[in-house]
Amino acid sequence: MQLLPGFRDFYPEACALREYILSVWSSVCQRYGFAQYDGPALESVDLYRKKSGGELVGQLFDFNDKGGRHVALRPEMTPTLARMVIARERDYKKPMKWFCAPSFFRYEKAQRGRLREFLQLNCDILGEAGSGADAELLALVIDVLRGFGLGAGDFVVRLSDRDAWAQFALARGVGTERLLDFLAVVDKLERASEADSRHKLETFGISLEAVREFIRNPACEAVKLGEILANLRARGMAEFVEVDLTIVRGLAYYTGLVFEVFDRSGKERALAGGGRYDQLLEVMSDGKVSMPALGFGMGDVVLANLLEDVPAAKARRDAWIAARGVADVYVVIADEGRRADALGVVQGLREGGWRGDYAFGELKVGKQFQAAELAGARFAVVIGSEWPEVKVKRLADRQERMLAANDLHQQLAAWDLERLP
Ligand code: HAM
Repeated sequence: MQLLPGFRDFYPEACALREYILSVWSSVCQRYGFAQYDGPALESVDLYRKKSGGELVGQLFDFNDKGGRHVALRPEMTPTLARMVIARERDYKKPMKWFCAPSFFRYEKAQRGRLREFLQLNCDILGEAGSGADAELLALVIDVLRGFGLGAGDFVVRLSDRDAWAQFALARGVGTERLLDFLAVVDKLERASEADSRHKLETFGISLEAVREFIRNPACEAVKLGEILANLRARGMAEFVEVDLTIVRGLAYYTGLVFEVFDRSGKERALAGGGRYDQLLEVMSDGKVSMPALGFGMGDVVLANLLEDVPAAKARRDAWIAARGVADVYVVIADEGRRADALGVVQGLREGGWRGDYAFGELKVGKQFQAAELAGARFAVVIGSEWPEVKVKRLADRQERMLAANDLHQQLAAWDLERLP
């Protein structure tokens, strides 16, 4: 009867948090003109074996279905997105700006910030090669996080350029067929032991010192990063980004710009990561569709940790959840003999579009008011001796009015528009 490791139950309070995260994600994406899409949760395992590469292949939830197909629960969106765009590329104007935020599955060791099922916002721009798209995507990731009340003191976007690393390696005699293996060593530099990294780099004929020197002082082939930084500076967003060549990303398909977002405290794992994958569509379509593309993924797990740890973000989160409640109006039955009239009022309110609630059985009036507060109701409608008039209380400021029961929902709507003092 136990929950599997790395999976979560969403009780109502966890669901409210999830709704909050999803609502900020989608509202900021819409402000940037992104359209929502989705794909299937299950795909052929080959899609990931061939396209994702890296660590992810060892983390697949894969199995044979009853038809003998080898399938996997999606660990990421990018290969599905590429498959979808290749199939119907002609139907959409370029650049395409798409987002989605479903669940993903990775058989990772469950730990702080990493689970086996998680939500991930994916934002991708397809059909635009210019660095303006890179900057736009970075501005979006920054604004998504700012949408939660996080600031430049809370997170940083670390930018890097895989092309720069490719040029570095090719210039030192690493063949293109070994490039990904070389990048994998750079990717692990911060986590692996010095001796291990040194040994692995030697197999490419490259010293650890040369790699470190390049990170400290990239003789910047990475020209594009300059344009991207200037673009972000023009938006007043320079303080959110830093160039950091230690970032190379674990996935196989990235080409130019790559980036990861970290919390400033350094306590958490990456909040988000992404970059350009200009060749993926061409490779997947055997040369039929060639389209530059870039995007990022942001998970909900590290984000939720940060929303708990940063006071301003926590206050914004709590205010959003408190304001939502489960009811707008609570009908308090002060005279049990009028229960039938009360039910008529509840029904009328619901038909008028209000979220209305009431007590199923006889309950003290005080308890019913407590239930109204708990439900987050803005109004309490008291059904009692004044019938067919009712006493209505606005719970925020305790103001009371006597209103006629017969067109209550319209009178309430007018009152609801009045500002609170
Ligand atoms: P990724 O770096 O594998 O990229 O994942 C992006 C983000 O998803 C991570 O930074 C983290 O927030 C979250 N995440 C990943 N694995 C887990 C996990 N096991 N538990 C909780 N959160 C997790 C990609 O997936 C790329 N497909 C992103 C992309 C989109 N690139 C271009 N477009």
